[in-house]
Amino acid sequence: MFETTPIIVGLDIGTSKICAVVGEISDSGSLNIVGVGQSKSRGVRKGEVVDASIVGEDIRHAIGEAEQMADTEIRSVYLGVTGGHIRGFNNRGFHPVASQDREITEDDVQDVIKNARAINLPTENKVLHIIRQHFLVDGQDGIVNPVGMLGTRVEVDIHVVHGNFNRLQTPIHAVKGLQLEIEDVVFSGLASSLALLNNHQKEMGSIVIDMGAGTTEYAVYSNGIIKHTGIIAVGGDHLSNDLAYGLKVPLGRAEQLKIEHGSALVEPEIRGHTLTLTNDHGIAEKTINLEHLRRIMSLRLDEIFQLIANELDQADLLNDVREGVFLTGGCARIPNIQKLANQVFHLPVSIGKTNSISGLKSALDQPEFAAAIGLVRFGSFETRKRLQEKPGFQSTLTQTIKQIFRRS
Ligand SMILES: Nc1ncnc2c1ncn2[C@@H]1O[C@H](COP(=O)(O)OP(=O)(O)OP(=O)(O)O)[C@@H](O)[C@H]1O
Ligand SMILES: [Mg+2]
Repeated sequence: MFETTPIIVGLDIGTSKICAVVGEISDSGSLNIVGVGQSKSRGVRKGEVVDASIVGEDIRHAIGEAEQMADTEIRSVYLGVTGGHIRGFNNRGFHPVASQDREITEDDVQDVIKNARAINLPTENKVLHIIRQHFLVDGQDGIVNPVGMLGTRVEVDIHVVHGNFNRLQTPIHAVKGLQLEIEDVVFSGLASSLALLNNHQKEMGSIVIDMGAGTTEYAVYSNGIIKHTGIIAVGGDHLSNDLAYGLKVPLGRAEQLKIEHGSALVEPEIRGHTLTLTNDHGIAEKTINLEHLRRIMSLRLDEIFQLIANELDQADLLNDVREGVFLTGGCARIPNIQKLANQVFHLPVSIGKTNSISGLKSALDQPEFAAAIGLVRFGSFETRKRLQEKPGFQSTLTQTIKQIFRRS
């Protein structure tokens, strides 16, 4: 189908790790992961670059490892971005149908999309994504393509994701400084949802929550449409901080306790259990109450889920989510996190699994890689689209508005 197999690379600059995932589109058009590289992330806080030169070194390391594994040279990447400054909102554009016979034409569609895109954002903001949701004709909603329909008024709903221009430029500069081209910049929370959800799940209504070290991003779909995106600049690092403070242990020890003994719930049977911490010489140093440890974690995780649930409830989105909640990111590994999320959302909760992607199990099975894999999937859509836009293929403006978040 393709003359050459395009290599697509997703680069995710996370708070705890930087990872690069290399994908290929196979002859049959499916996506295959052929390489992955990662590095500890030393210059990122709450998802944002705070030390560009160290981040540059860490990116170089991750890219080098991915190149080696995929046996290829990486020249360009799809870059994931995140941070507390990123926001998502919905906007509606409308347009009176011009023709005498009231038949909606491609020109009407172009005009209504143009009107919806005319958004007044402060100059320091940059739009990352404009995603078409659906059209309305004389108030009738859920229309995928209104061309050829009769009506007096056509409207379109779009989802807009934007962020602070300068804060978005920092990771872009860090990547360009390594002589890597950037194919596109994608909000990491959207990327994770692309890696995990299939069409049925988008149709039935799903929430994807990517809980990393410094941020928690979420994306909501229903009726096959992206409905909402958001981010909270709180993640696993905050759990470790809480433990360090609450248990009076150094941060490194708190992180280790979280991973080895953590849980999102306080199970009744652990009441009274203690852990003995020893020093480097094996001498008992401190006793930790396991119930206390888990209660600290449970409270913080509950708070994060409550914040998301309240926001989605206020936006009246929870009733449309029938499939459930999919958790990913490193914190999805915390024992009992599904049960806790279920108590908050009152929806089925599972750990997200990548769908319709083959290749390296070592990448596909790790929740930490969801965003980078989603970036590769985003890139595969863009690549297919570019190939189709070559002379000989017909394309329209409505097609160029990114449709991939609707249905894959
Ligand atoms: N088994 C585990 N139990 C508890 N926490 C875990 C476990 N495994 C990983 N984590 C936590 O997951 C977090 C790392 O997740 P991830 O790699 O998704 O973050 P990131 O992408 O680097 O950060 P962000 O997306 O917030 O910028 C860390 O806080 C880590 O402690
Ligand atoms: Mg992440």
